[in-house]
Amino acid sequence: MTQDELKQAVARTAIDYVVKNEIIGVGTGSTANFFIDELAKIKGDIKGAVASSEATAARLRGHGIEVFDLNDVADIAVYIDGADEIDNSGAMIKGGGAALTREKIVASVARQFVCIADGSKLVDVMGKFPLPVEVIPMARASVARELVKLGGTPKLRLKPGTDEAFVTDNGGYLLDVAGLSITDPKALEAQINQIVGVIAVGLFAARGANVCLLGTAEGVKTLK
Ligand code: 5RP
Repeated sequence: MTQDELKQAVARTAIDYVVKNEIIGVGTGSTANFFIDELAKIKGDIKGAVASSEATAARLRGHGIEVFDLNDVADIAVYIDGADEIDNSGAMIKGGGAALTREKIVASVARQFVCIADGSKLVDVMGKFPLPVEVIPMARASVARELVKLGGTPKLRLKPGTDEAFVTDNGGYLLDVAGLSITDPKALEAQINQIVGVIAVGLFAARGANVCLLGTAEGVKTLK
């Protein structure tokens, strides 16, 4: 099976976790896109969705799914999203698709976080995938210096094919931090959150996944 077929398989399985007549939190990225396409098939069963990025909002609306502003929503039954890495405790690295801050906000309101990923994302120790950190643009260099003190090698994310900084939906910049071996994800998440100028760190450990659906050649595996 191709990686896309594995992503499609978990996206289909994730439909079992959609709660009828409720608002669903929807993540960002290629796996989340497959999920949105599946969600469209049962759109009559849900009230609507809260999106974790402008791209996701556009795809949901394109399918005729109502997109709610999070400020108008008190409760989200389930948040469904991909990950760049996930460990056995349900802690994740996210933000490869640049949406980590809104993903973290929507996830924080959801009762349940269902992670959907192809099996290659499951690791024993996270950190091979560079950890995304969203920063206020004027703090790019000062935050980078602090991340170096933590043992990382931060790199400013650029717009593809240019020398210009990539700008997130929130007007932030992204530092992708290589070289970290994340043996204590909760502690590192708290430490990076303390750096002045950080908007959000792509470590989802304090609020990790409750369920992880992993696409493998043997079928979809469920980690709880
Ligand atoms: C976006 C994310 C994505 O969930 C993550 O990058 C995984 O993406 P994909 O499903 O395309 O592999 O965190 O900010």
